[in-house]
Amino acid sequence: MTDDMDPQRYYDEFGEGEWERLDSNPVARLEFESTTDYLAEHLPEADAPSAADSDPVRVLDAGGGPGRYVCWLAEQGHRVEHCDLSSEQVSVAKEKVSKRNLEEFVTCQQADVRDLPFDDDQFDAVCSLGGVLSHVIDPDERQRAIRELRRVTKPEAPVFVSVIGRLSSIRYGLKHEERFGLLAHTAETGDYTQEAVEELADGEGWAECHFFRADEFESELEAGGLAVEKLVGLEGPASQLQEELSGVDEEAMADVREMVRKLREDRSVVDTSEHMLAVCRT
Ligand SMILES: C[S@@+](CC[C@H](N)C(=O)[O-])C[C@H]1O[C@@H](n2cnc3c(N)ncnc32)[C@H](O)[C@@H]1O
Repeated sequence: MTDDMDPQRYYDEFGEGEWERLDSNPVARLEFESTTDYLAEHLPEADAPSAADSDPVRVLDAGGGPGRYVCWLAEQGHRVEHCDLSSEQVSVAKEKVSKRNLEEFVTCQQADVRDLPFDDDQFDAVCSLGGVLSHVIDPDERQRAIRELRRVTKPEAPVFVSVIGRLSSIRYGLKHEERFGLLAHTAETGDYTQEAVEELADGEGWAECHFFRADEFESELEAGGLAVEKLVGLEGPASQLQEELSGVDEEAMADVREMVRKLREDRSVVDTSEHMLAVCRT
């Protein structure tokens, strides 16, 4: 038994690779673009940097990894607190922030989303994106994490959470015969654990993960005290088509993007997407 699938260890070892992930292919770029579309639409407006005596909009990115969204948020004029379980991801985020001269607007620290080191009602908006909650396998622990996200957010403020979809992960499994033994287990439980991989699949595992159905995701967020306003399938029907879309030129990708924009809030598209985003309010 190895502990390769421990999420903290995995992201410590993955390092810079996690920064590259969101720009590594056209489908990953759709995840980022769809997410920032909804952040831009629902975040409170940032003050101009020169505005005298104005209170800056404070945004938390919990499980912010290497800081792609942190840099984007700071570039929009927000004050950002970043935290992540992986010390290596915190280092990568600090380096990315520093390279862009954004240190004045961003603070990075190591912390667990289940036990956030912030007071109640601190933030004007909170993000936990790209599957942070998917890496919290135990449902009670996930509830703890959701209640933490809610606790640190001001009343009526937006909370953005995205997780990894179960049906799409099954489609990924169907492309890899060594994982076929996991298909029925994933369909039934959504859990991709060290134990299941050792028993049911050949080859190395990725980080332990819980893959969500849309109804389940919505129920868990609501049970944790968040009101779900919108669910979005971030990659939509382009999910799991990395290889097919990798040679496609920019003009043709614009057609794909337009199609995804039209369909991404359709419930069946949400349920079959690689990542699903919930736009919530406290
Ligand atoms: C797929 S990455 C997403 C990173 C970033 N949010 C993004 O979308 O680019 C998942 C991140 O969640 C972090 N993570 C996993 N479990 C966590 C926990 N319990 N508390 C805080 N961060 C966690 C990992 O270290 C990793 O950086």
